[in-house]
Amino acid sequence: MLRELIDALRTKCAPGARALGLAYEAAAIAARHRRVGKSWAPHIAASHQVILRGAARCRKHERVLVIGAGACFDVPVAELAAQFSEVILADVAVSAVARRWQRRLPGRVRAIAWDATGVLASLAEGRRTLTANAAVELFAGSDPGVPPGGDADLVVSANCLSQLGLIPADQLVAAEADDELPARCAIAAARRHIAWLAARPGVRVLISDVTRLDIAPDGRELARRTIFKGLELRAPDQSWRWDLAPIPEWSREWHRVHEVSAWIDEPA
Ligand SMILES: C[S@@+](CC[C@H](N)C(=O)[O-])C[C@H]1O[C@@H](n2cnc3c(N)ncnc32)[C@H](O)[C@@H]1O
Repeated sequence: MLRELIDALRTKCAPGARALGLAYEAAAIAARHRRVGKSWAPHIAASHQVILRGAARCRKHERVLVIGAGACFDVPVAELAAQFSEVILADVAVSAVARRWQRRLPGRVRAIAWDATGVLASLAEGRRTLTANAAVELFAGSDPGVPPGGDADLVVSANCLSQLGLIPADQLVAAEADDELPARCAIAAARRHIAWLAARPGVRVLISDVTRLDIAPDGRELARRTIFKGLELRAPDQSWRWDLAPIPEWSREWHRVHEVSAWIDEPA
């Protein structure tokens, strides 16, 4: 807890996004990796592999943009830096790890604070006053504009889709009386992010958790929840399981496992 608070303070983050809990959330993810990172190894390997599959489909290798780079667990930074002239590690909360990559490979890797929704500052300003509908509308109309560094030959959305609306909406006063508000904001933000990605001129790799599972110690599936109800996505190019929180991380009775999918799209 203390370590997470210190790490959150060391995370570079705009004040609005910090007020919405994003710096703390990024530190909490890194802390979970310290505790149960061994269980994440297959997920991390699959993410690296699919990102490099996307890289292999690029005609030019000038710039790669990674959105939601975080602490770069699932990002093969060294391999991307060997292939592309410029690697942009973008996240609303810039980790010490991303800044270390920037120092290690100056001019080749840049760690940039960037809000992929474009609405977190307005959301933070209206944290106490926004109605539930206004919050959903804000995400539904969101557009972050041209990405940092300009358009890229490869854009990777690295496991951040399910977080874009969920985490900040949870901090809204309107969410106190409306348990479903974060989920509605999550869908609205995800829909916009997917449309924004589709408009990029380069190769796109989208990696996202899509289902949350509770798995008993004997392997029985106790619960299954679809994260993006009503979001029409084509069949993924690759899917795998992420042992996110093995017993006893979140529960003594079940492991939390996420199903993760990946899509690789090329310009028309
Ligand atoms: C599940 S983590 C994945 C982290 C990262 N890919 C890694 O391997 O460490 C989701 C990441 O999305 C980032 N994120 C959440 N909302 C964002 C936003 N609006 N704009 C950019 N990044 C965001 C978080 O800060 C976090 O680092």
